[in-house]
Amino acid sequence: MKIGVFDSGFGGLTVLKEFLRYLPEYDYVYLGDNARTPYGTRSFETVYRYTLQCVKKLFELDCQLVILACNTASAKALRSIQQNDLEKIAPHRRVLGVIRPSVEALNKYTNSGNIGIFATPGTVASDSYVLEIAKLYPEINVFQQACPMWVPLVENNEHCGEGADYFVKLYINQLLMQNNEIDTLILGCTHYPLLINKIKKYLPKNIKVLSQGEIVAPSLKDYLKRHPEIETKLSKKSQRKFFTTDIPELFNEKAQIFLNNGIIPIAKQLKLD
Ligand code: DGL
Repeated sequence: MKIGVFDSGFGGLTVLKEFLRYLPEYDYVYLGDNARTPYGTRSFETVYRYTLQCVKKLFELDCQLVILACNTASAKALRSIQQNDLEKIAPHRRVLGVIRPSVEALNKYTNSGNIGIFATPGTVASDSYVLEIAKLYPEINVFQQACPMWVPLVENNEHCGEGADYFVKLYINQLLMQNNEIDTLILGCTHYPLLINKIKKYLPKNIKVLSQGEIVAPSLKDYLKRHPEIETKLSKKSQRKFFTTDIPELFNEKAQIFLNNGIIPIAKQLKLD
């Protein structure tokens, strides 16, 4: 059986890329819901419905474990799927998100106890990071900044252009106006690692920037060590399969920008009922 990686579109490929680096031996199935992206501005109900539908497809594609690489889906759908649906649809399979592992890693980085989160409006509105951090590290102060223009910049391949500088500076300034003692920053959206060079350029040098793939991949490795009942079911033939709910040609072309590791994906179209 395989590891499924789900995202609303291309962004989850930045997470898959790190899985392939840390855990190359496993077989992966990537599903991007490109036909219905973006999720970041959609309602709770819609994100939950779309995500559940895609998780079921990944189970049909023989995935033992599905990682919701999308922060918005992790924020709005993960808990309901784990608590209400999994028992009915696939009690022996697992669905994990990216928010919890990102939060768990935080205490290794912050000294000031002030953390910044850059995320989509949907993730910010859900308060998932704030609630998760309050549970694990109640002493940490969290400051969130929604960055609605960053996903469209990346999707339109404008993340290296001058227009991106304006919006990177804008959201950094808005975050630092909330608190100027932030020393650690989570990029809480799959697309943002593609802006990391510009983010680092405009951010004060004392602030550490955490990209999720780098945190989530070691965390998955650790999870698999602790869960042999899941790990032993996983096939290890280093196969990678890609599915998109939109046109495969478009996916293949853009996916290379997100993967940036020489892999040329040949995606198949997956029709959702
Ligand atoms: N994948 C989404 C996330 O990480 C960003 C793109 C979207 O809005 O669908 O939140």
